[in-house]
Amino acid sequence: MVQGIIFDLDGVIVSTDDCHYRAWQRMADEEGIPFSRGVNERLRGVSRMDSLDIILERAKRSYTQEEKTAMAARKNAYYIELIGKLTPADILPGALDALERLRRRGLRIAIGSSSRNTPLILRQIGLENAFDAVADGNQITRSKPDPEVFLLATRLLGLAPAECLVVEDADAGVEAALAGGMKALGVGSAAANPRATYRARDLAALDLESILK
Ligand code: BG6
Ligand code: MG
Repeated sequence: MVQGIIFDLDGVIVSTDDCHYRAWQRMADEEGIPFSRGVNERLRGVSRMDSLDIILERAKRSYTQEEKTAMAARKNAYYIELIGKLTPADILPGALDALERLRRRGLRIAIGSSSRNTPLILRQIGLENAFDAVADGNQITRSKPDPEVFLLATRLLGLAPAECLVVEDADAGVEAALAGGMKALGVGSAAANPRATYRARDLAALDLESILK
């Protein structure tokens, strides 16, 4: 029986894809590193430093650890400028309704996100008090597909992994949920992932009753 739902944040609750894309693009342009929406897709669910390593696969030279730390910090400064403009209007279709229905059924709800900007984003969209637990990139050392962030969320909820369902838009996140012994619902970019336990186009298209029965 599912008793807890752990939501990924970026691409599930809020649309930050374009902000990540524009911030990485700005940094890559300044460095003369080729970057595209295709590469950006590979960054879904991946931590900031691991994302930078993927971008640097196309760089003409290698970068020192100090340079990489500075580049990631620069990208994050650009990203923070952009997410400073997020409002509750950026909450994705069906998300608020799903949260309310889950609450009414007495389920526990959490965030499980790789993003270190999770607290800031939740404040921007007015959901800082909407979850029973928040596990994010500030509290973990291993990025999805490692299950660390979701296992932390289950512990914070006081539930066993087998009692939890993870909602994810990243294939890496679906793998993380399964590796941690949880069920996975793929939405958005993961809506066609055959590994996901359940699939839906987005939270608006989700038939919650059939998953929770
Ligand atoms: C994930 C995003 O939620 O957070 C990734 O899908 C991003 O694209 C990662 O790289 C880390 O985010 P941040 O905000 O800590 O740079
Ligand atoms: Mg995501």
